[in-house]
Amino acid sequence: MLSVTYATYLEVTKQQIFLCCAALILMLIAACTPGDPGSTVKGVSYNAEQIAQGRVYYEQTCAACHGVDGQGQFPEAPLEPDATGRLGAPPHNETGHTWHHSDELLLRYVVEGGFADPNNFYTMPRWDSLYDRDDAALIIAYIKTMWTEEQRIYQQRVTLDEEARAAQTQP
Ligand code: HEC
Repeated sequence: MLSVTYATYLEVTKQQIFLCCAALILMLIAACTPGDPGSTVKGVSYNAEQIAQGRVYYEQTCAACHGVDGQGQFPEAPLEPDATGRLGAPPHNETGHTWHHSDELLLRYVVEGGFADPNNFYTMPRWDSLYDRDDAALIIAYIKTMWTEEQRIYQQRVTLDEEARAAQTQP
């Protein structure tokens, strides 16, 4: 009788040790995985559901010009002027240069529209009648999923550098 109880006790202890080890290993994996800068816009992290909402906005409003997969208006030669001498809507995916811009510039682009020379570019409309900055952030969070890990890290650095410069010049 006593030995049965002891055996049960040992069994439970083994289970506890196993669970503890499993928990420790999971915690270690979580600590070693680098943060995912792709879902962060201006320091706010967006979850999968919010990014999915950004995708809906993107497909409703932006895809017509920038391409459903972010391949740009003229995927054959996205960075070449067409017969009118103008460049179309640029790609947003990893082949484009959207990832060179800070979060603030991207947000302003969506809300306030483009400011490229209309002789050299088609026009990027402003979208403040449809989207405020919070909505625009969801769209940007989605666009970031089109970039490579290196591009996302680079773009996050550009954003942080710009914020640091802005903080310095503040009176
Ligand atoms: C009618 C076509 C059109 C639509 C629709 C459109 N854009 Fe654009 N977009 C452009 C063009 C053309 C440019 C390049 C001209 C410029 O930069 O001013 C551009 C440029 C941009 C840029 C800056 C260039 C870059 O990639 O670095 C961003 C960011 C951008 N668009 C985001 C969006 C988002 C987000 C939407 C949807 C809310 C959207 N655009 C909808 C035509 C469009």
